[in-house]
Amino acid sequence: MTETSGSGAGFSAVVEKLRAAGCVFAEDEARLLISAAATPADLAAMVQRRAAGLPLEHVVGWAEFCGLRIVVEPGVFVPRRRTEFLVRQAAALARPRSVVVDLCCGSGALGAALAAARVPAELYAVDIDPVAVRCAHRNVATAGGRVYQGDLYEPLPAALRGRVDVLIANVPYVPTDEVGLLPPEARVHEPRVALDGGADGLDVLRRVAAAAPRWLAPGGHLLVETSERQAPRAVEAFAGSGLTPRVATSASASASAGSDDDDESDTTVVIGTRPASPQPAGPREFQPSPT
Ligand SMILES: C[S@@+](CC[C@H](N)C(=O)[O-])C[C@H]1O[C@@H](n2cnc3c(N)ncnc32)[C@H](O)[C@@H]1O
Repeated sequence: MTETSGSGAGFSAVVEKLRAAGCVFAEDEARLLISAAATPADLAAMVQRRAAGLPLEHVVGWAEFCGLRIVVEPGVFVPRRRTEFLVRQAAALARPRSVVVDLCCGSGALGAALAAARVPAELYAVDIDPVAVRCAHRNVATAGGRVYQGDLYEPLPAALRGRVDVLIANVPYVPTDEVGLLPPEARVHEPRVALDGGADGLDVLRRVAAAAPRWLAPGGHLLVETSERQAPRAVEAFAGSGLTPRVATSASASASAGSDDDDESDTTVVIGTRPASPQPAGPREFQPSPT
């Protein structure tokens, strides 16, 4: 439908319905729904689904991420704009013709964004949830990426061990007790497996970090998003697995770039680098000779 000007009886009726349902940005959403609907019947159905609480992205079928339209089917985690910071950090660390793995890929948004920036020579994406895997196929297969269903590294080809230059993983990191505090759009319409990170939110992150050195190339990087509060424990997990950790925050990155973009001001990314060469051996321990 073409009525996107934000005027007219149809537009006002849609705004009213959305506002009554509690949509804070009713006018913006009305414009989007009107432009996305093919017919008046289509529009009525979309407005009804949105008013019932379905995330706007699930209603229109896509989410904006790094300037791309990422396909998001109902039931898949909606990529958050703050995660664009992780993508930029990954792109900055990549070497030419990098091998990139996106674990816990959801819709495949992160891999798709790196592919659009021509970062990976090879792109592999994994998710445990079949809905996410189906969606990721639609977003990364066109960019030459391969998508696998399974638990973290388990479905990846063994030939990738020791060859991954950039390993990105936006894992579930909400502590179990806090899942119930999330807005209904996440709590009700996104799968629990996409949100719940265990008692302190770091269960999946620890598993990713523990196995990362076996998959990373020397000098390769693991990048994971956390909350600011979780970052020190995430750093411990990275260091404990043999990676050299550091923390990047979008607040400091924006400040140094002179940016006033608030949208990702709370993004924290923990980056772990596999040492490029074997660590020098420490002094040999004294071994008493057998008597
Ligand atoms: C927070 S969502 C992030 C999705 C996507 N990376 C993004 O940022 O839009 C976490 C994703 O991890 C997946 N996941 C959770 N546990 C997993 C596991 N053990 N192995 C693979 N994927 C897993 C969920 O299905 C979900 O799609």
